[in-house]
Amino acid sequence: SDDDLRQAAKLIREVPDFPEPGVLFRDISPMLADGAALNAVVAALGRGLEFDVVAGVEARGFLLGAAVAQAFGTGVIGLRKPGKLPEVADRVDYDLEYGSATLELPADTLQAGQRVLVVDDVLATGGTLDAACRLVLRAGAGVAAAAVVLELTALGGRARLDEQDLRPLLSV
Ligand code: PRP
Ligand code: HPA
Repeated sequence: SDDDLRQAAKLIREVPDFPEPGVLFRDISPMLADGAALNAVVAALGRGLEFDVVAGVEARGFLLGAAVAQAFGTGVIGLRKPGKLPEVADRVDYDLEYGSATLELPADTLQAGQRVLVVDDVLATGGTLDAACRLVLRAGAGVAAAAVVLELTALGGRARLDEQDLRPLLSV
């Protein structure tokens, strides 16, 4: 319910100066550790959407993505940082504020035509979620939505997701 989600939101910890001075980091760990909160968040991430499989982004998107998949009766695919997978179907490089990063799609997971719910914890600059969506689209699959617990609006990540249906449970 909305009230469960409001209670869940209170369990996001705000940590000043992490990972560097001046950054206010939002840590969803206490929210994930609370059964009622996790339940509310997982239900809200998938509610009303039609999808065949969930794609969760390493690392916190794995926890949420697997829970959403289980709750809605689908499988889950882990989109991974480079060098972890024995066989890679595709990879996308993307720019970070400083430097670059890569996400990889495991071989023999996603099938063309599938509708994918992309899941992560936080939308910041949007590079990560955009890369995840591009991996899905390049495989000939579709993005049902890009669902996150928390959108950090000041970083403008939404603009980077152009066509995708962004579903944040909370925006700050
Ligand atoms: C964080 C977060 C998102 C991403 C958002 O992950 O979990 O995946 O950054 O940032 P962006 O919108 O600017 O791309 P992080 O890179 O810290 O990795 P981790 O989950 O493995 O710790
Ligand atoms: N929390 C979690 N992940 C993040 C954040 C944050 O505040 N900023 C960028 N990635």
